[in-house]
Amino acid sequence: MTVKKAVIPAAGLGTRFLPVTKSMPKEMLPIIDVPVIHHVVQEALASGIDDIIIITGRSKRAIEDYFDDSPELEMHLAKKHNSDLLDMVREISSLIDIHYIRQKEPLGLGDAVLRAEKHICDDPFAVLLGDDIIKNNTPCTRQLIDIYNRYRCSVLAVENVPEEMVSSYGIINGRPLEDMLYLLEDIVEKPKVEDAPSTLGAIGRYVFTPEIFDHLKRTPRGVGGEIQLTDGIRSLKNSQNVYAYEFRGRRYDTGDRMGYIEAIIDFALDQDELQDDLRAYMRQVLER
Ligand code: G1P
Repeated sequence: MTVKKAVIPAAGLGTRFLPVTKSMPKEMLPIIDVPVIHHVVQEALASGIDDIIIITGRSKRAIEDYFDDSPELEMHLAKKHNSDLLDMVREISSLIDIHYIRQKEPLGLGDAVLRAEKHICDDPFAVLLGDDIIKNNTPCTRQLIDIYNRYRCSVLAVENVPEEMVSSYGIINGRPLEDMLYLLEDIVEKPKVEDAPSTLGAIGRYVFTPEIFDHLKRTPRGVGGEIQLTDGIRSLKNSQNVYAYEFRGRRYDTGDRMGYIEAIIDFALDQDELQDDLRAYMRQVLER
């Protein structure tokens, strides 16, 4: 059984991006004209996932609307014979069937993942956090699934984070096994840098065996009074091997203002119709 299902937790309040997230889900922030969550869904699809569950909360309706049909808009574009835009709009709603589950209270990432248990049943599954966009020819989730297929164990993507950022991540202690791959010995949620076992941080891409649910159910509230996914992983690794993988690719933390700006610039530089004008503008700005 390989990994065909994915959970995208998108219930967070987006406090790092206030005030815009007062009335708009942070997952809908546009990277030029495509919302962050569209990139995340595309990564899942390109990794072989065919069943997606998005965990939403109050004021997240815009996500459901985005992936749904939009009959009025489609009729309008058809009348105007704007077939390029019409195809683009239709393609979004036909990407994949997405199921939505609401997390009634903001009890943390661990609790959000646990909401998906009934839908996932006894299957392995991926988790993709809705903030991170990762660019690479082989999608990050695919890289994790390939490791799952070899070892049949849970695996999380990690990367070296700067010391001043250690307290924003789940930080691992891993025993090197082979190139880029570690056996997870410990993971701590948002430690102070002096207490951190390393600078390898979990970056929001995971593949889990379904046993993670039993561990999450037993996980008490941790950092910030929330049920932490990190604490569930810590408990899981005591009963089965868990791996950590230094993935290949460039990650943008779009929930962080600087990460968001970097994503917009890099994505614009990738577009033929924008790159020359943007380069010229940036040269001008740097000379000011
Ligand atoms: C969450 C996880 C943390 C992980 C991070 C990656 O934290 O709790 O372990 O390292 O995502 O982005 P959050 O960013 O939701 O505070």
